[in-house]
Amino acid sequence: MTGSPSITLNNGVSIPQLGLGVFQVPPAEAQRVVETAIEAGYRHIDTAAAYNNEAGVGAAIKSCGLPREELFVTTKLRNGNQGYDDALVAYDESCERLGLEQIDLYLVHWPFPSADRYVDSWRALERLYAEQRVRAVGVSNFLAEHLERLFGETELVPAVNQIELHPTFQQRDVADFATERSIAIEAYSPLGQGADLEHPTVVALADSYSKTPAQVVLRWHLQRGHIVIPKSNSADRIRSNFDVFDFSLSDDELEAIDAMESGNRIGGDPRTFALSQIR
Ligand SMILES: NC(=O)c1ccc[n+]([C@@H]2O[C@H](COP(=O)([O-])OP(=O)(O)OC[C@H]3O[C@@H](n4cnc5c(N)ncnc54)[C@H](OP(=O)(O)O)[C@@H]3O)[C@@H](O)[C@H]2O)c1
Repeated sequence: MTGSPSITLNNGVSIPQLGLGVFQVPPAEAQRVVETAIEAGYRHIDTAAAYNNEAGVGAAIKSCGLPREELFVTTKLRNGNQGYDDALVAYDESCERLGLEQIDLYLVHWPFPSADRYVDSWRALERLYAEQRVRAVGVSNFLAEHLERLFGETELVPAVNQIELHPTFQQRDVADFATERSIAIEAYSPLGQGADLEHPTVVALADSYSKTPAQVVLRWHLQRGHIVIPKSNSADRIRSNFDVFDFSLSDDELEAIDAMESGNRIGGDPRTFALSQIR
């Protein structure tokens, strides 16, 4: 079995480039889904406090038998817990639910600008990082205007910006702004939640390589240098989404997928998204 290549973050920490996302994986299924992924070769799991499945992810980490350092675990600070003190407490609670002493990557889930607490939240993550309680810290859904405020008012440059990124919604301005500042781009909803898989460009490439449309899209992400975290509940799709290391797309084929850009946002707009994410 071929494993995922890794990307080195701006603080020297290594992250497996292909991981499993568990948004919308029901709490009762999270353990099985993550165990299946680890068996298939995944070593990177992306969850969030707001997904309400950290405990299931933690149960799989415990049961899988791998040494802790072989797994890379990301979780996120939910909107309702933003603010300096609340973020410190929320981090401890996530560690407890995951059964981990240290999380590999902790992200501010959304800028949630109407609350205006993301700078204070970031200061809490800076402290967790300075105290070596977390291996790397980053943000998610941050536009240039939000990153500029962090640069102006805080010290630490985020290691990662996790953003919606798939062939029909590539956010090239956001991605370029981050990469020029040594912030790695992590692509969420990388398959467009399934919507991009029926596009004729992807279907034709899948046919020509005898691969699935999802494998073609994931290959595009890997070759474009994104960290990428597809989600599936299905054991077969979890496995096939990881079977992407035995073919590669040509430059022309990568450009054909680049040309699918059509402004097709699926998730929330970071300027206005304001769910507390607490059920
Ligand atoms: N930071 C954020 O704000 C944010 C927001 C959204 C997502 N995320 C992260 O990104 C991860 C992935 O994003 P996502 O879950 O929104 O979308 P996604 O990974 O683009 O797509 C998942 C959907 O595609 C289906 N699918 C998966 N593999 C497939 C395949 N091989 N063939 C056909 N369909 C397939 C899944 O169905 P089945 O499950 O039935 O296979 C599911 O409906 C999340 O799990 C989460 O970790 C982060």
